[in-house]
Amino acid sequence: MDKLRVEGGKRLEGSITISGAKNAALPLMAASLMAETEMVLENLPELADTASMLALLNHLGVASERQDEVVRFSPASGKRTTAPYDIVRRMRASVLVLGPLLGRYGKAKVSLPGGCAIGTRPVDLHIMAMEAMGATIDIIEGYIEASAPDGLKGADITFPMVSVGATENALMAAALARGETRIINAACEPEITDLAECLIAMGASITGQGSEVITVTGVSGLNGCRHAVIADRIETGTFAIASAMTGGHVTLNNCRPDHLPALWDMMRAAGVGIEETATSVLISAKGSPHPVDVTTSPHPGFPTDLQAQFMAMMCLAEGDSVISETIFENRFMHVPELMRMGARIDVNGGNATVHGPAKLHGAQVMATDLRASVSLVLAGLVADGVTTINRVYHLDRGYYRLEEKLSACGALISRVNEKE
Ligand code: EPZ
Repeated sequence: MDKLRVEGGKRLEGSITISGAKNAALPLMAASLMAETEMVLENLPELADTASMLALLNHLGVASERQDEVVRFSPASGKRTTAPYDIVRRMRASVLVLGPLLGRYGKAKVSLPGGCAIGTRPVDLHIMAMEAMGATIDIIEGYIEASAPDGLKGADITFPMVSVGATENALMAAALARGETRIINAACEPEITDLAECLIAMGASITGQGSEVITVTGVSGLNGCRHAVIADRIETGTFAIASAMTGGHVTLNNCRPDHLPALWDMMRAAGVGIEETATSVLISAKGSPHPVDVTTSPHPGFPTDLQAQFMAMMCLAEGDSVISETIFENRFMHVPELMRMGARIDVNGGNATVHGPAKLHGAQVMATDLRASVSLVLAGLVADGVTTINRVYHLDRGYYRLEEKLSACGALISRVNEKE
């Protein structure tokens, strides 16, 4: 299994080009199941998760061909509507094929994804949305068996809590349902807006995307389109925090700073220099950050996917800060690993109190989930000595050429292939 070796103490300087967003790419790829003609996605990052989705689509009859960051998708054959366990268990976002299959073919059999490191990750809201549109759902031997032989019908879907994935499944299914659907308490993440805009380019009729109420008027069929995946706001935030932690001076290009309002507020409060344009942001920092309390919440609040990274930065702050995680029930897996590097953190339920400043030192650490893993890389950039991060396959799921991008800005980071 590969490891990452990081030698701390180097200030990051230079520029990084941000890749396409993993969490926009995955639903957009699922939407290709609904296209009756060829679909092309640009700026589609080459990640373990997007490779898993291509494999699932291939299994479902959608052939694809990648040319650098451009992927062409053939129209689905419709022969298969089952997403098997051995594919879904590797990538829980596979559940996003449920809405497209049900919307287009009136049936779908999708393995329950099961939990993951950060929580049980139920899909009850996805199922509720499909049932609201008239589908019959049975859970049989770990599979969601969904059917709507007469097709889905438009409905009001009110989510009791905000769910990005359930909003995406509902949006895609509603695009081909008969009549009007209103998705109430919809997620407002930029990835939802990106998906809606792609579906509109395919012929769907959608308004309200990006707000809490999305209205969809079903159409009889969708064509392919050419769509560029939005820039990855979590990658943007990750590198912004990395630059700030090292007292660096880094410009992030090809990104959407307007997708990260809460992060910039918190980083400015921590004393970091942030200069935004429409497609780039300059991060400059001098000295230690000020302590800042952060609570994660759905967009436009502070993203849960940047909680671990921000906590790594707060380890260096001149004082105590409280990081509150409200989205997932177990998203502090990075805490014990950061503590092995010398961080001083007390966890009490969903709140972590970070006592700063801590002098971090290099250590052997274990990656657990995608974002916890990258927080250890960030800590390694500023720790005394060498940090080795094991199980970097977690990182490869969501970061494209991480070590190359950081090395280009002066980080001493390299991948070690361990034959294990
Ligand atoms: C998406 O996951 C992202 N993944 C996650 O990013 C991100 O952390 C999350 O949204 C929140 O922003 C992708 O887009 C592929 P949710 P998703 O449904 O859709 C509960 C990363 O690191 N819930 O918004 O699965 C759920 O347990 C990943 O890139 C239900 O209870 O998240 C959680 O507590 C990690 N029932 C909360 O809602 C459901 O049916 C929010 O989950 C669905 C969700």
